Amino acid sequence: MISEQAKQRMRDLAARYPVARSAVMPSLHIAQQEEGYITKEGLQTVAEVLNMTVDDVESVATFYTMYYQRPVGKKVINICTGISCYLRNCDALLQHLEQRLGIKAGETTPDGNYTLIKMECLASCGTAPVLQVNDEFVENVTPEMVDALIEQWNAESMSSTPRPTSANGSRPQGV
Ligand code: FES
Repeated sequence: MISEQAKQRMRDLAARYPVARSAVMPSLHIAQQEEGYITKEGLQTVAEVLNMTVDDVESVATFYTMYYQRPVGKKVINICTGISCYLRNCDALLQHLEQRLGIKAGETTPDGNYTLIKMECLASCGTAPVLQVNDEFVENVTPEMVDALIEQWNAESMSSTPRPTSANGSRPQGV
């Protein structure tokens, strides 16, 4: 459910622009923060607040990979499979991650802790291979680093891990 507070944040954002619909992307981020992914209610709320059609809002939400169309895990692990990461053996890394997590790319672990997603170029080619985990980048990744990270994440209290804000790690200004 989208809270009244979240709606007010969307209204406040819209007021910063000459045209309210310019706030559609940060408003979608707010909707995603509220519910974990872009729900029908999220689309409707953004449309109402910004005086747009639901179709227009949905066209933005489905164009950008940073908006999730279905529930995701508490840790969203984006693995880059672009050309630079490919040349630096991301395929082996992906295989290692799939094996460690017991899921294939595009899936979420049954406990809801991890989602693994393949991405095309995370814009950090100079430090390939690259992972983006929620809002953080992990660069020059090796299978050993993956093992250490998974140990660390499993040791953390997953229940207190905030939901990811976006697939590209960006948290829009003022949101
Ligand atoms: S190809 Fe992986 S970051 Fe660009």
